[in-house]
Amino acid sequence: MPYYRVVGEIPRKRHVQFRRPDGGLYAEELMGEEGFSSDSSLLYHRHAPTAITKSESVEDASSDGADLAPNHPLQPRAYRTQDLPESGDLVLGRQALFGNGDVRVSFVAAGGGPSELYRNSVGAEVVYVQTGRARVETTYGVLDAGVGDYVVIPTGAIHRWVPDGPVKALVIEARGHIRPPKRYLSQFGQFLEHAPYSERDLRGPVEPLLVDGGEVPVLVRTRGGLSRLTYLRHPFDVVGWDGYLYPYVLNIDDFEPIVKRTHAPPPVHQTFEGPGFVICSFCPRPLDFHEEAVPIPYNHHNVDSDEMMFYVDGDYSARKGSGIGIGSISLHPSGFTHGPQPGAVEAAIEAAQQGRDTSTEKAVMIDTFRPLRLGAAARRCEDPEYAWTWARATG
Ligand SMILES: [Fe+2]
Repeated sequence: MPYYRVVGEIPRKRHVQFRRPDGGLYAEELMGEEGFSSDSSLLYHRHAPTAITKSESVEDASSDGADLAPNHPLQPRAYRTQDLPESGDLVLGRQALFGNGDVRVSFVAAGGGPSELYRNSVGAEVVYVQTGRARVETTYGVLDAGVGDYVVIPTGAIHRWVPDGPVKALVIEARGHIRPPKRYLSQFGQFLEHAPYSERDLRGPVEPLLVDGGEVPVLVRTRGGLSRLTYLRHPFDVVGWDGYLYPYVLNIDDFEPIVKRTHAPPPVHQTFEGPGFVICSFCPRPLDFHEEAVPIPYNHHNVDSDEMMFYVDGDYSARKGSGIGIGSISLHPSGFTHGPQPGAVEAAIEAAQQGRDTSTEKAVMIDTFRPLRLGAAARRCEDPEYAWTWARATG
């Protein structure tokens, strides 16, 4: 996390005696990344965060990626998440779409029930809420999430999802940490003036969340698989914490698009980075405004990347006639040059000439630097005709 935050009660100095009202000591815990060499927070628990009474393995076919198949024969692909069934809660109801050694992307159509307590020790997660509302309870406090929110959960943060009705979400699980792009930050971590969002756009926990109880199960994901550890006391027992590492929320509508006179490439839309991938936000914005601009992407072959685009709102003019709608996902892999659907360039130039000079498109894009393999849920909702739409319309 890029900046310092303090919530609840903490002692005046690090690592000094900090006592409960009954005279006993609070248990201090450091949550830190990269072996004491990067961001961390210090949390103060009422009870020992180490006391567990049971460990069980949990069946999870997706843990080792064995459920993923290569994109072979190579094809651009499109999927309709609109057609995926309701699938349980926001943790165990994840339907695998894509994955590789760096990241796994899945879709959840949650029915409304709360998830179990959950800790992902493989890496950070970003959950993009497409529809619905949820309360995200964490050891750091509560986050309220709604439509368009990116909920960023750092590696190892214990949390649970409590939806307020049905929720649809895209879940991005990294093998490592997800952070704002380094180039947006000063050497000390402050968002620079050219960054498309800043500290004021981020929502973090504001007060401690204290829950009583004992023998509390917590799902823990590691590279070895999924386990369920039972804690002697409820992990939501933190009276205060401070530091730079905590869960937070950024709404896609708080991302301020950067525009040029002629077409700007996707790095201007970059929102987060993780090891081996980036996350970008395409938001409504003025079209490219050079008098002779082609206000739509050019054909491109980003030779090192697979590109996944999740269409969440508005009118995506570059994909007109391809069957892509709200809730669709396109996958444009390395090895294939992609670009606007036939006729889209002319339509965009005409629209700009007629004064319709603002795009309404809203999309979440993930570019990976290793090929994405295809999950069972992707195979279930694929539009088999998408790959041929450019040729057919040109025909
Ligand atoms: Fe692209």
